[in-house]
Amino acid sequence: MTKQLNAIPTKNEKLVKWVQGWVDICKPDAIYWCDGSRAEYDRLCNELVDSGLAIRLNPAKRPNSLLFRSDPSDVARVEARTFIASEKQEDAGPTNNWIDPVELKKTMLGLYDGCMKGRTMYVIPFSMGPVGSNIAKIGVEITDSAYVVINMEVMTRVGTRVLEVLGENGEFVPCVHSVGKPLAEGESDHGIWPCAPMDKKYIAHFPETREIWSFGSGYGGNALLGKKCLALRIATVQARDEGWMAEHMLILKLTNPKGEVKYVTGAFPSACGKTNLAMLIPTIPGWKVETVGDDIAWMKFDDEGNLRAINPEAGFFGVAPGTSMKSNKNAMLSCAKDTIFTNVALTDDGDVWWEGIGYDAPEHLIDWKGNDWKPGQVDAEGKPVKAAHPNARFTARACNCPAIAPEWEDPAGVPIAAFLFGGRRPSTLPLIYQAKSWEHGVFIGSTVGSEVTAAALDVKAGTVRRDPFAMLPFCGYNMGDYFKHWLEIGKKGAAKGNLPKIFCVNWFRKNAEGKFMWPGFGDNSRVLAWVFDRCNNAGEYKDTPIGVMPTENAIDLAGIEDEVSKADLAELLKVDVEGWKNELAMIKEHYKKFAGHLPAELAQQLEELEARLK
Ligand code: GTP
Ligand code: SPV
Ligand code: MN
Repeated sequence: MTKQLNAIPTKNEKLVKWVQGWVDICKPDAIYWCDGSRAEYDRLCNELVDSGLAIRLNPAKRPNSLLFRSDPSDVARVEARTFIASEKQEDAGPTNNWIDPVELKKTMLGLYDGCMKGRTMYVIPFSMGPVGSNIAKIGVEITDSAYVVINMEVMTRVGTRVLEVLGENGEFVPCVHSVGKPLAEGESDHGIWPCAPMDKKYIAHFPETREIWSFGSGYGGNALLGKKCLALRIATVQARDEGWMAEHMLILKLTNPKGEVKYVTGAFPSACGKTNLAMLIPTIPGWKVETVGDDIAWMKFDDEGNLRAINPEAGFFGVAPGTSMKSNKNAMLSCAKDTIFTNVALTDDGDVWWEGIGYDAPEHLIDWKGNDWKPGQVDAEGKPVKAAHPNARFTARACNCPAIAPEWEDPAGVPIAAFLFGGRRPSTLPLIYQAKSWEHGVFIGSTVGSEVTAAALDVKAGTVRRDPFAMLPFCGYNMGDYFKHWLEIGKKGAAKGNLPKIFCVNWFRKNAEGKFMWPGFGDNSRVLAWVFDRCNNAGEYKDTPIGVMPTENAIDLAGIEDEVSKADLAELLKVDVEGWKNELAMIKEHYKKFAGHLPAELAQQLEELEARLK
């Protein structure tokens, strides 16, 4: 018999039945409905510390914060184990892994059978977006991981207030999660992160029935199902059907020295700078950036024809390495307290450390694997041993971010003036250029490329791969049809009002010595200023074969002349015709994959670009 730890707090019959069905399958020892209260959060944190899974950090250094070390095999999303199980394979498209939904459910039900023995099943009612907003969506995640519960309580809005909005007949996206490690009678985790071996991990999405089933991983986007699974993979399908947009985009508020405001979103692949741009501190006088969101944007046209965006999340699941008071002060302050750290290093005085934190490592640390670590330590092959995993993360509350915009929870969203696309491109792609039209902008989005980072476990870091709209791992249907959806949004927007302007940025150009040519971070404000002006049809610009570009005087270099000379800027803003010819060949290869699903408008854009480069 499953022990009922608290009373069922809802009269929504569909929800109660659904939960009971999964209790019968997973056979947990106990079941608990989360209320989202602070007391509940604190109690679960204490239990996690007592069980040895979490370390409480020194309250004098990091108040109310925990450190977790995951299993070394469970440190990032696993793209090869992520599935879009649509009824027809064609609907998943050429960029997603597909398994027949009937077959996949059969396999997974076998895995779920008894998978929660010895554990508590938590039921997490959550809202993506401000509770009650008409852009928000409700999900319910069941999980056997208390780590997932506390992360969801930071990243989303959880509990009783969500059930109130759900009511007796409300709709929710059902999300099932298990770490996939049942316990025998009397067995415990002994402080070791529970998960299943790689070949038993499944991150499955059923787009037609809007269901999410996740098994075997406890980490990030694999387990916090409101984030990539609901707010992107399932939401893209809903957005296509309902005429809105679900995007892997930061949202920032930009104020110029005159006090005029514009809201800008940016789609960059995982670990390519969204959190950093969203929290940027401008290095040019008089400008201000405030944060609305750092990872996901949901956008809908309002009655006036403005595209309005909300951030469906309530926290940041940010990359720790490289985050310092110099590179991202607002992120550092966001995780100064009330934070869950995963796979960073632990100092002897109970604080955290990671590569790029802005100060040298102390003489001794415990690394992310739980081993003693000393500065300069090398492995058997002589390679430096990292103290923190490159995809180590902090889970921090948005309300603790000093730069959070006052309107970040406005249920109506904020009107978007510009979209930025970008990735890590050591060559060819200039610092910035602007699309000539919406269709050209969609072409740019569809061809985004980036050097692969550590945010996914099973793709080779360092090589350039195409990551259209930064959505390669996050689109819940055929990517060719998703391009078409973008074109349709353009038609709808053009008829109704003012569409956002589209830009391509690249903070990651390298010189012959392999050094970044652009200082990035706060200095990206110099590029945002030009974007702002272009949104007012101002700013000095020139037409080039690839798009509209700033003249060399249009980017303010005052104060960084030592780092970026006029010649460097000229190089950063050059159209590298030979490089672009290579790029064309790569784009053609990339487009072939979409076959009959590639919109004719994009094939046309490619032809036109080729003609302009001749
Ligand atoms: P996800 O959370 O995985 O979606 O990542 P993200 O897009 O939010 O990336 P994030 O801002 O966390 O940055 C990832 C890494 O890129 C960090 O190590 C940053 O220090 C580095 N980075 C961010 N912005 C810049 C930049 O302008 N220039 C350079 N050189 N590095 C940057
Ligand atoms: C990403 O990989 O884009 C992330 C982290 O934002 S995760 O939540 O693991 O997907
Ligand atoms: Mn992301």
